[in-house]
Amino acid sequence: MSEILDRQMGAVRYLSFNRPGKMNALTRNMYAQLAQALKDAAGDFAVRAVVITSQGDHFTAGNDIVDFMDNPPTSESSEVATFLGALLNFPKPLIAAVKGNAVGVGTTMLLHCDVVVAAPSANFSLPFVSLGLVPEAGSTFLFPALVGYQRAAKIFLTGESFDADTALDMGLIAQIAHDADAAATAIAEQIADQPPQAVINTKALLKARNHDAVASVMQAEFEIFALAVQSDEAMEAFMKFMAKKGSK
Ligand code: COA
Repeated sequence: MSEILDRQMGAVRYLSFNRPGKMNALTRNMYAQLAQALKDAAGDFAVRAVVITSQGDHFTAGNDIVDFMDNPPTSESSEVATFLGALLNFPKPLIAAVKGNAVGVGTTMLLHCDVVVAAPSANFSLPFVSLGLVPEAGSTFLFPALVGYQRAAKIFLTGESFDADTALDMGLIAQIAHDADAAATAIAEQIADQPPQAVINTKALLKARNHDAVASVMQAEFEIFALAVQSDEAMEAFMKFMAKKGSK
């Protein structure tokens, strides 16, 4: 069974993280599949909206830490960089349905979505600094722009997590729904019924103001990330995670 489920229902494409035994932690292979699916969806006239969702109780625990250690993403052609580029440039509406943990890229990818619905169980965290890394996906630009510098700095620098109510208050999500998947589907179907070119044009206009700035911040983040992921600080944090795993 694929670790990214990719299915189309009507005019809506659903991409679902499917590695629940590892809390849907994302591997290089999963990023590559996601990037390819977004590319296909962008060019497919039958797709009018994409829903990003997950199997099991959690959205994703972020990048797979074992993969980080074995194959640190150090080049701009890495799978994660390709996925983040595809996300930044995706022209059609992206709706996310979040439940449980949304760690790291599980939260930063939401900054690129057009509508995010979260279940009350959702818990968001950006523990890049705690892992000896730096935030990615343009989040050092997009997150303070959304929530204000101080709130963003506090969350990034302390590594503290926040719940669905806080995310709603911040504007990171559009609504809380007990069944986030059903709510995301209803929104995607409603958008898919709208005149498609007007939808695409409106999304382009909404994103235009920040697009180039986000692209250049993403590049700067990536350059520092590529060094950080191989640093002693990161290795120490990864080993701590592995030790916790081993002691269970
Ligand atoms: N990479 C690889 N495996 C991961 C993972 C990750 N990012 N997050 C969770 N997993 C795996 C665990 O190793 C465990 O697998 P195992 O049963 O084979 O050992 C399984 O998923 C369940 O995770 P577990 O840690 O037992 O759940 P928990 O409820 O105790 O803790 C978290 C949940 C999210 C707090 C914890 O898993 C964690 O800190 N994960 C790392 C998150 C992270 O730092 N991501 C990178 C962001 S850049």
